Amino acid sequence: MTESVVVDHVSKQFTLQNARTLKQRLVRRVEGQETNPKFVALDDVSFTVEQGEAIGLMGLNGSGKSTLLKLISGVLRPDSGSVLTRGRIAGLIEVTAGFHPQLSGRENIFLNAAILGMGETEVQGKFDEIVEFAGIGRLLDTPVGRYSSGMFARLGFSVAAAVDSDIFIIDEVLAVGDPPFKKKCIKRIKQVRDEGRTIVFVSHNTTQVKRLCTRAVVLEEGRLGFDGSVADAVHHLRYDDDTDEDGDGGEI
Ligand SMILES: Nc1ncnc2c1ncn2[C@@H]1O[C@H](COP(=O)(O)OP(=O)(O)OP(=O)(O)O)[C@@H](O)[C@H]1O
Ligand SMILES: [Mg+2]
Repeated sequence: MTESVVVDHVSKQFTLQNARTLKQRLVRRVEGQETNPKFVALDDVSFTVEQGEAIGLMGLNGSGKSTLLKLISGVLRPDSGSVLTRGRIAGLIEVTAGFHPQLSGRENIFLNAAILGMGETEVQGKFDEIVEFAGIGRLLDTPVGRYSSGMFARLGFSVAAAVDSDIFIIDEVLAVGDPPFKKKCIKRIKQVRDEGRTIVFVSHNTTQVKRLCTRAVVLEEGRLGFDGSVADAVHHLRYDDDTDEDGDGGEI
């Protein structure tokens, strides 16, 4: 087996900008509070993903999933520990990342693809496929700043999926797509998986994680809470009963 992503004792903290103005800083200092306290987003996280494995990265809001994806993709660096990846990485972390709102969909495809490491000829060869998949033909020459959030997500996913990457990371992008597009995305991700590429899939949707992944890693307040089968991860998270979304047993 070949290791594809190795997350080794990774920690990351952020500075919380609680006191932005001079007055706020003074007040905090007088009250004996720290002006800009640190927040630990990831705390000593370690796990390895083998080449061709599809893992779900799960956890409650704020548990550190997107931060970890940013470290894997190299957008952020860990404070301590290391992240090693083998091969080209593509994917979608933040829907609007790598897009310019005033440029058209057409221009943004070239811009975003370049950011993802595709050459101009490679993009030209895949341009029609990207537009077709996104279903944005009508909006191709409209500035993307005027796209609906779903349309934005479609475009981002389509470009990312067109890159021949070894590692494909997806952060909850399917949440804003409509059901037919979600279905198309799942099919595409399955294809990517069946091509033997590594997948790190962030989602709160247990059905999607079960469909796509064979293993799940759960983050809990920045720490590794669980690493094992998807079914056990879902149980660990108490996400078992997805149908009763508000957890009140179906009462109105
Ligand atoms: N640049 C930043 N500066 C300060 N705090 C940050 C920054 N980025 C993330 N955080 C904090 O780190 C924590 C983890 O955030 P992260 O976005 O990784 O969570 P997540 O698991 O992706 O959550 P969600 O399910 O809501 O997407 C949060 O408390 C967040 O507020
Ligand atoms: Mg997130």
